[in-house]
Amino acid sequence: MQISPFRIERYYAQWEFTTRYMLSSSDCESRTIAEVLALEPDAHTRLLEQWCGYTESLGAPELRRAIADLYAGVEADDVVVVSCAEEGIFLLYHALLGPGDHAIVETPCYESALAVARSTGAEVSEWRREYASDWTHDLTALERLLRPHTRVLYVNQPHNPTGTVMDSSTFARVVDIAQAHGLVLFSDEVYRELEHEPGTRLPAACDVDDRAVSLGSVSKSYGLPGLRLGWLTTRNRAMRDRVAELKDYTTICSSAPSELLAAVALRHREVLLDRNLGIVRRNLPLLEHFFDRHADTFSWVHPSASAIGFPRLSGVGDIDRLCERLAARGVLLLPGSVYDERAHVRVGYGRANLPEALELLERELPAAMAISG
Ligand SMILES: Cc1ncc(COP(=O)(O)O)c(C=O)c1O
Repeated sequence: MQISPFRIERYYAQWEFTTRYMLSSSDCESRTIAEVLALEPDAHTRLLEQWCGYTESLGAPELRRAIADLYAGVEADDVVVVSCAEEGIFLLYHALLGPGDHAIVETPCYESALAVARSTGAEVSEWRREYASDWTHDLTALERLLRPHTRVLYVNQPHNPTGTVMDSSTFARVVDIAQAHGLVLFSDEVYRELEHEPGTRLPAACDVDDRAVSLGSVSKSYGLPGLRLGWLTTRNRAMRDRVAELKDYTTICSSAPSELLAAVALRHREVLLDRNLGIVRRNLPLLEHFFDRHADTFSWVHPSASAIGFPRLSGVGDIDRLCERLAARGVLLLPGSVYDERAHVRVGYGRANLPEALELLERELPAAMAISG
C-alpha cells in the first residue's frame, strides 16, 4: 500500500503534547473515566468485573444497541464497532475500492478521507469547496465529476475543517445523486449532534439511504477520543460483512473496557453534549470578538456546528512559520497547509481554557505575523 504521511497527525505528533494551549482541537473537552462511570449506578462495578478477553468482532451487543439508538431506522445488527473512526475510514474504503474504481471526496477534508481512498489504487476526484464561495456545495460540479465507474461519494457533515453544515435540501440532492448513480454514500458524521442549533442537524445517511454508510465516533461531540471507539452503520448487510472480514486484519475486535465505557457514555450522551455545547457557546463569542479586534487579519465563514472553524488570514506570507512560531510560544493553531489551504488556520473552541489561550495568542500574534512575512 502506498500512502502519503498524514499531515494533520504528523503536525500534532510534533506539537500537541508539548504546547501549552491547544487552540485547534476538533474534539471537545474530555472527561475522566470516573466521570463517565458516574453516569450510571452500576458502571463502576461492571468495569472492574469486565473480562479482558476478546470481544465480539462486530462489537459488544450493549454498545451496538446504544449506537443504533442514535439513529431513526437502523438496528443493532446494522452496526459494526471499530477502534475509532479512522479505522472505519480505512475499512470502508478498502472494502469498496480498488484499481479501476473511482471515488469522489468532498474537500478540503480530514486527510485520510482522501489519502486512504487513493491508497486502494482507485482514482480519486476532489469535490472541492472554496472559501471565496462561502464554502458552498456546488452540485453541478459534483455531477461533472461522476464517471461510469464511480463507486463511492465521501461527504463530511458537519465539516472538518470549516465547522459548517450543508443545508438539508443540498443533502437531499446529494443522497439523490448517490442513489441515481448507484454510489455508496460514505457519510462521515463524527461531528453530528454538536450542531450549535439542533434544527440544522441533517438526517443520518444510514437512515435515509439503505446503501449509505454513516461513520460515527465518541471522539468529537462527546469528547472521548482516548477511548478509541467508533462505528460504521449501514443497512447494507453485504457491505457490513465485507467490513467485518477486513477488520479481522486490523483489530479483530475493539477494546473491551472502551466498549463498556462508550456504551455508558452514549446512553447518557445528553449530559456530555450539554456540557460540551455549553463550552462551545461560551467560547465562540470570545473567538468572534478576537477576530473583530483583528479584522484586518482574520475573516471566516461563521461555523454552525462542531468545535472548529477555518478562518482566513490576510497579510501572512508563510502560514507554517506563523503557526510554528505560535506553537513554540504556547498556542497551537493548525496551519491550513495540511488541508492544501495555505491562507487559513484551523481553530478549535471546544476546550475550557480557550480564554487563556486567546490572551496568549493576542500577545504573541504581532511578532508571529512579522516573522511569517
Ligand atoms: C472528519 C473526521 N473523520 C474522522 C476522524 C477520526 O476520528 P477518530 O478519533 O474517531 O479516529 C476525524 C478526526 O479528526 C475527523 O475530523
